[in-house]
Amino acid sequence: MAKRPFIVLGIESSCDETAAAIVDDNKQIYANEIASQIAQHAKYGGVVPEVAARAHLEMIDVVIGTALDKAGLTLDDIDAVAATAGPGLIGGVAVGTVTAKAIAAARQRPYFAINHLEGHALSARLADAIDFPYLLLLVSGGHTQLLAVSGPGHYHRYGTTMDDAAGEAFDKCAKIMGLGYPGGPAIETAANAGDSTAIALPRPLKGTAGCHFSFSGLKTALATRLAQLGGPDQAPLNDLAASLQSAIADCLADRSQHAMKQFLDEYQLPADGRAPVFVIAGGVAANKHIFARLADTAAATGFRLSVPPANLCTDNAAMIAWAAIERHLKHPHGADDFDFAPRPRWPLDPHASPPPGRGVRA
Ligand code: KG4
Ligand code: ZN
Repeated sequence: MAKRPFIVLGIESSCDETAAAIVDDNKQIYANEIASQIAQHAKYGGVVPEVAARAHLEMIDVVIGTALDKAGLTLDDIDAVAATAGPGLIGGVAVGTVTAKAIAAARQRPYFAINHLEGHALSARLADAIDFPYLLLLVSGGHTQLLAVSGPGHYHRYGTTMDDAAGEAFDKCAKIMGLGYPGGPAIETAANAGDSTAIALPRPLKGTAGCHFSFSGLKTALATRLAQLGGPDQAPLNDLAASLQSAIADCLADRSQHAMKQFLDEYQLPADGRAPVFVIAGGVAANKHIFARLADTAAATGFRLSVPPANLCTDNAAMIAWAAIERHLKHPHGADDFDFAPRPRWPLDPHASPPPGRGVRA
């Protein structure tokens, strides 16, 4: 008789999406529900933590109920409950973890406190047949990191941002240009009608040693050029958008290339001749120009590129359920205690050397 699958309810609430998903250890996704708060934050031009926490509280029961309905399951069918326990906006994280603990306690099921970044890092294995180790570029609104992933709980961070994340740079620049929120898709649309060579912008840290990123100087340079060109009403916004997108793509490609070399120095290539794998996760991977630049970089360095489909690449709860399953498969008694406290900061690689400059992001 076939083994009964191990079915996990995952909950994600660390930023501006309230999400619930049901996934099993055969990689079957029964439901992957997301309630976006973009409309509630758009008028402020960015995510407002207090607004986010209230919206999570209103929506969490609804998305869990919808996920169960779509899966055709009840809580009795759930073998474990997993929720993002950090890093992220602490009000939202608290809503998700308290909900998960309550369900787990009421049903006497194991509870998993999941690192949101680990969810992104392992999502590629839910979507694709990938062995450890692989190289990951996580590029979202909150994070820009390059990591070697060698197993659940085993990460070597090669680089992170010294200041803003790449998606944050898109969002802040779009706000300055009056293009709305979220900025990434708005800038990509404008860039499609612009000339990426029209306006000279810097490529912070490009060509320097290492794998760290910096984007805040780029934002300042864009603001300066925008003002010189007459502000949002007069400046060629499409050219500015295309030039910005190209600068960010160049930085991501340059740093990723360094990380690929470091990865090849540290890990043996698969013995059967398969190419090493380069995974991109996070919302910025949706950008076609950036994706194409990174695909070229991977091909030039002999890596196979793997990008989870959009609904697993941006924030979602299936990746949270899957991260719990990965841990369960590795350690059958690897669940967490109910006193596990949410963590606003939670680096995947606690031993990583911090980038030079102002500080370290989780
Ligand atoms: O992974 P994600 O959905 O959420 C987190 O930040 O964790 O990523 C959202 C980020 C935002 O900063 C958004 O502007 C950016 O991804 N983004 C894009 C594009 N679509 C989303 N950036 C550039 N081009 C896009 N097409
Ligand atoms: Zn994320």
